[in-house]
Amino acid sequence: METRNIFNPLANKVAIVTGAAGGIGAATAILLAERGAAVVLADIALEPAQAVAARITDIGGRALAVRLDLADEASIRALIETAVGTFGRLDILDNNAADLSMGLRDADIETMDLEVWDRTFTVNLRGTMLACKHALPHLVKAGEGREVGGVIINTASNLALQGHIIQAAYSASKAAVIQLTRSIAASHGKRGVRCNAVLPGLTLSAAALENLPARLREIVESETLTPYLGRPEDLAHAVAYLASDEARYVTGQCLVVDGGTSTHVPGIAPFRAMVAEGL
Ligand SMILES: NC(=O)c1ccc[n+]([C@@H]2O[C@H](COP(=O)([O-])OP(=O)(O)OC[C@H]3O[C@@H](n4cnc5c(N)ncnc54)[C@H](O)[C@@H]3O)[C@@H](O)[C@H]2O)c1
Repeated sequence: METRNIFNPLANKVAIVTGAAGGIGAATAILLAERGAAVVLADIALEPAQAVAARITDIGGRALAVRLDLADEASIRALIETAVGTFGRLDILDNNAADLSMGLRDADIETMDLEVWDRTFTVNLRGTMLACKHALPHLVKAGEGREVGGVIINTASNLALQGHIIQAAYSASKAAVIQLTRSIAASHGKRGVRCNAVLPGLTLSAAALENLPARLREIVESETLTPYLGRPEDLAHAVAYLASDEARYVTGQCLVVDGGTSTHVPGIAPFRAMVAEGL
């Protein structure tokens, strides 16, 4: 095995994090930079992405913010070219961005505007696929002459695992992201590229906190097995693991980071109350 730098495990690696202006993406970009990677922070919201990049460079890290619109293939191609042009290579693609502006407007298929479905799939699935498409030649190259090569981490959701009544388009787009992940792992594994997905459960990013009705938070909290809900840093650590050479034998996998919410029998909250009262 190649010698590892245990203090900066991602030293000499170049990463792109999409949706890095805030929330999970910002926490991930900061953590990857702390571990030694040069990070390109891509987001449709450029100014907040620049602010996160400045936080990284202020502490001595390497970072660049780039405006990205995942609905536009030319913008995605330009992002990859800028990353490789600036830092010389590409090792890690963290597809974190999603368009969450539709909120719960996709709850009911009968009344849902088609544009909600189309926009959701355009950004969350097509955008993720296009980022993979344009990054893959560079990720293959990253593995040439090395034991371990490039890596993609796609972002799905635990809502992609079960039927639910709140987000039909969103959860379908995320389920498709999981299958895309497996396809790329299969097609590019022998060329040195690993591809995995993280599946967050409810995570207290600013976006989630802003849009989350208090009742919904209570329900999820009662179904979560940990004493707390997740924070952006919890996802950042999962991504950093999958991005690292320590995960060299892990590909085509879904890492669910949801405090166990999706692992247990349905309706655990009333069962918990019953057990507390005595069986
Ligand atoms: N927070 C949660 O509870 C939760 C749960 C499950 C899955 N996720 C997933 O985690 C990821 C991050 O979520 P978050 O909670 O940090 O939300 P967030 O809103 O902070 O992050 C999403 C980012 O994507 C960017 N974006 C939106 N449309 C874009 C486009 N067209 N082009 C480029 N960038 C665009 C936004 O500007 C934003 O910065 C998303 O993929 C989301 O679906 C989050």
